[in-house]
Amino acid sequence: MNIFPAYLSAPSALITVSVCQEILDSEGVVEINAGQLRYVDPFGMAMLGACFNSVRNKGCAIVVRQLSANLSGYLQRMDVFHGVELVDCAHNTGARRDRSGELVELTQIANQADVGDAAYRLAKAMIGREDTNEKPDEMSGYTPYERLVEPLQYALNELLENALTHARRGNKYACVWVASQYYPKKDLIRLGVVDNGCGFLESLQSHSELLQKRHLQAILLALRPRISCNRDLGLFTDSVNQGVGLTTSCRIAEHAGGRMILASGNAMHSTTGYSGEKADAYWQGVGIAMEVSRTKLADVRVRELLPSLDNIPPVNLRFE
Ligand SMILES: Nc1ncnc2c1ncn2[C@@H]1O[C@H](COP(=O)(O)OP(=O)(O)OP(=O)(O)O)[C@@H](O)[C@H]1O
Ligand SMILES: [Mg+2]
Repeated sequence: MNIFPAYLSAPSALITVSVCQEILDSEGVVEINAGQLRYVDPFGMAMLGACFNSVRNKGCAIVVRQLSANLSGYLQRMDVFHGVELVDCAHNTGARRDRSGELVELTQIANQADVGDAAYRLAKAMIGREDTNEKPDEMSGYTPYERLVEPLQYALNELLENALTHARRGNKYACVWVASQYYPKKDLIRLGVVDNGCGFLESLQSHSELLQKRHLQAILLALRPRISCNRDLGLFTDSVNQGVGLTTSCRIAEHAGGRMILASGNAMHSTTGYSGEKADAYWQGVGIAMEVSRTKLADVRVRELLPSLDNIPPVNLRFE
């Protein structure tokens, strides 16, 4: 019997990863006691989405027991228990209230072609309803609503795109799971984006600046501006990659009063706190949590946060 801890969340990313690993290692029907579980954030939900999907693909059934009534309703509302049997758990019988503008249910994305639309739709859902009377700013042409959507849309686009390109170099069937929620009392938007691909270390293992072949070092290297597997390793299949997506998404989180937490292999790194590795935790892929203050998104200008283009070779201009 597997046991859920009290928290399945980004700050306890390594514990969340070890539980998912235990679930993945179980043989036969996967039974999980959820009696102690108190809180699941969008990172935890996206991890469960990826984990349950692998279990189902092995043809194994999943049974969750003793979930509290509160969590049971909420997690069913978030579509976390697709194909999961709930035993001794309160069932969600209430009508499905429209909560667009507050949360985005757990969603699996498998096609790179869907990334642009998904990023736009998810970002809008997190900002809430558009005030159609708002006038665009004369200088920028953006309405205040569009200003809030843009940074989130950028970050989601980059994270989803990474998950369906780089992550697939090790596992061509890799997918990505995303969930999100707005917490009005704290004015915080939390996002979870989890893939089951090759992970940072495999993607960057031949990079000359990866001095130690460890998961934590690979995460830290990926966060540096202008670091990319294909730009620096001479894989010219995707010559568009400039190594700025992750750095800029992280800067967006910080400028919007938030943070980013990344987990891959046996390591996690938080931009505001703990970084480390745990011997008995392992996630085959990348899990990212992003937290931003919704109000502060208004002060973020994505263009000003993009790493400079200094070290890009100049284009040869010919005037003849
Ligand atoms: N989900 C992921 N799985 C595996 N490796 C990843 C993942 N996301 C990022 N990486 C690695 O981290 C590197 C840096 O990512 P980043 O998004 O900053 O740059 P990029 O995708 O290469 O370029 P750009 O985002 O500018 O198009 C990637 O080149 C890749 O090696
Ligand atoms: Mg990228």
